[in-house]
Amino acid sequence: MTAGRAAPGAVERDPGRVEAMFSAIARRYDLVNRLMTMGLDRRWRRLAAAEAHPQPGERVLDVCCGTGDLALALAQRCPSCAVVGLDFSEAMLDLARRKTAARAPGTGNVSYVRGDVLGMPFADDTFAAVTVAFGVRNVPDVRAAFAEMARVTRREGRVVCLEATRPRGRLGRRVHALWLGTIVPRLGRVVSGNAAAYSYLPASTRDFPDADGLGAVMAAAGLCRVRYRRFVFGIVALHVGEAAGSEASAGRDDTEGQAR
Ligand SMILES: C[S@@+](CC[C@H](N)C(=O)[O-])C[C@H]1O[C@@H](n2cnc3c(N)ncnc32)[C@H](O)[C@@H]1O
Repeated sequence: MTAGRAAPGAVERDPGRVEAMFSAIARRYDLVNRLMTMGLDRRWRRLAAAEAHPQPGERVLDVCCGTGDLALALAQRCPSCAVVGLDFSEAMLDLARRKTAARAPGTGNVSYVRGDVLGMPFADDTFAAVTVAFGVRNVPDVRAAFAEMARVTRREGRVVCLEATRPRGRLGRRVHALWLGTIVPRLGRVVSGNAAAYSYLPASTRDFPDADGLGAVMAAAGLCRVRYRRFVFGIVALHVGEAAGSEASAGRDDTEGQAR
């Protein structure tokens, strides 16, 4: 869910450096994810795939796909869909392709493309849904990233975003501080050997809009009917918006939150 080559705690969003960061931790990325979420990350991605509502035969895109877990969750949910994963780290894509090739036959049609979410090699209105998990936090222009996702999503298709966020309640804030400030950096250092990478998550989460703010960014990028819900003491949020064509107009801030 994170990476970093900059000094510990510094927020690094220069595309070349972010790509190098993720490539450096790719090999142990899945293991650290499983450990630091106690396996819950798989469930969160399944929920994100369900929110995308992929229907038989549709094309679906997962951006910042990393090692392919959400792309694979989409394919598992809709085996007749054509799922495309996009990422700019070749090391991450290499792992995604290997994981995908090792699956049982008949468990979906998934392919991968190297590219930048800020300028994707797809025509307008190509996909029925676009998803992103723990990706937009690393992009220098979050609004531009959502505008690009909206561009390649067909009218009324869904854009789904799973992301770490800051909780509201006191208990949530305590869990968050313990998880991000202590558990994640230590686990990351021990398992991946990259202390800087796993000091980046707390920094990039602090430096990122909260759940309401992220919803407003999605609406400002042209997505309609933006709503979200939270998981695990509010430390993870799942946002959903719809590409223009719904009754709400592009750019209107019609975000509604749901804390769970
Ligand atoms: C924290 S990982 C998330 C991976 C995956 N979505 C998951 O759920 O585990 C972030 C991924 O975003 C990719 N990424 C970051 N900025 C990107 C950009 N501008 N364009 C494409 N991929 C990007 C990184 O290479 C990395 O694989």
